[in-house]
Amino acid sequence: MDLAKQNGAKHAATKASGLDGVVVADTALSEVDGERGRLVVGGYDIEALAGRVGFEELCALLWTGALPDAATRGAIAEALAEGRTLAFEQIPSLGEALVAEDGSAGLMACVAHFGARAGWRSEGRPAWVELARVTGAVATFAAAWARRRAGGAPIAPDAKLGHAADFLRMVRGAAAPEAAARALDAYLVTVADHGMNASTFTARVVASTGSDLVSAIVAAIGALKGPLHGGAPGPVLDMLDAIGEPSQAAAWIAAELAAGRRIMGMGHRIYRVRDPRAAVLERAIGELERDGTAGAGARLALARATERAAETRLAERHPDRPLKANVEFYTAVLLDAVGLPRELFTPTFAVGRAAGWCAHVEEQRRAGRLIRPASRYVGAVPA
Ligand code: COA
Repeated sequence: MDLAKQNGAKHAATKASGLDGVVVADTALSEVDGERGRLVVGGYDIEALAGRVGFEELCALLWTGALPDAATRGAIAEALAEGRTLAFEQIPSLGEALVAEDGSAGLMACVAHFGARAGWRSEGRPAWVELARVTGAVATFAAAWARRRAGGAPIAPDAKLGHAADFLRMVRGAAAPEAAARALDAYLVTVADHGMNASTFTARVVASTGSDLVSAIVAAIGALKGPLHGGAPGPVLDMLDAIGEPSQAAAWIAAELAAGRRIMGMGHRIYRVRDPRAAVLERAIGELERDGTAGAGARLALARATERAAETRLAERHPDRPLKANVEFYTAVLLDAVGLPRELFTPTFAVGRAAGWCAHVEEQRRAGRLIRPASRYVGAVPA
């Protein structure tokens, strides 16, 4: 038997396109039930966390295994703020990184720079100090990139503020309304972890080689920025802008599908029902609307009409494959309503998901085994 045939025989039973259903790790961090539409993070349903606990508590849950008491919560808030401040101190030496055309590319360069400098490691303090500093730094760099892009100067962090409120302030240049900070906090909690998604897997592969935390986070940002993963919310907002009015949604969706294009924010590799995070974010946008946030109500109505139209059309085209709204659909509406520019949507996803990536890196380090799958060779073999 030739080499290709031998390998084909060896791997035929295990090859899974896109690794669907392949278990690559044991994790205590989060579980996605795609059939029932359930997301459990650290032992809690996402509905019991988003809007109920803040990002600091969620970080504690992921990094220490439990929701924190007041002292631990305070220490985590402090370490996140240290990360934001350390990152801000590095801005003068960042050079071209902050003027990158793409926010995620800029973030990768800034975070890599952060990792190359001393001062962010735990040095005898709990391991989560390091995780918090890197997570905190992601927020400062993302905000500074947005400020530069808008032609302004980066704004220094305020260690007294919560992570979400301070991020929003650093982007907007002024203290954000409380309702907006609350909604963003709910968003960061909602997206902090989500099973073995592509960017988390990326972070774990890097960690499994024995490489450092920052390298894993930089690689994960690179995976997140792709349009099939975290790059969808900007295009979702473009879609809503193009549709304009709820009454136009059905025709627009039909034309888009007829042209062979995908509807951004619809469909998911794992969920066969509506992504539970879509409902959580929809609830948070509803609160912004009740609080009188300008434009939130109209955008929500347009998004709901668009979702209904897309779901109906996709069901007609793919009767055997449920394609429903995913987290990105309402992310676009929420992040727009709290005043973030659309180029910052994917970096903002990274601000929240950094917490999960860091936790997975730690978990992977404890597992201690190199991730090294196989491939099936289908090329030529020398005679
Ligand atoms: N719009 C239109 N058609 C879609 C679709 C969408 N959003 N999502 C999937 N489909 C179609 C595919 O074209 C494919 O059709 P085919 O069998 O006729 O070729 C079928 O549904 C199955 O799609 P597939 O690519 O196998 O699904 P997947 O599990 O690999 O993809 C996503 C999952 C998320 C990548 C996919 O649904 C998608 O591209 N969604 C839009 C981007 C997005 O919202 N990403 C954020 C994810 S959280």
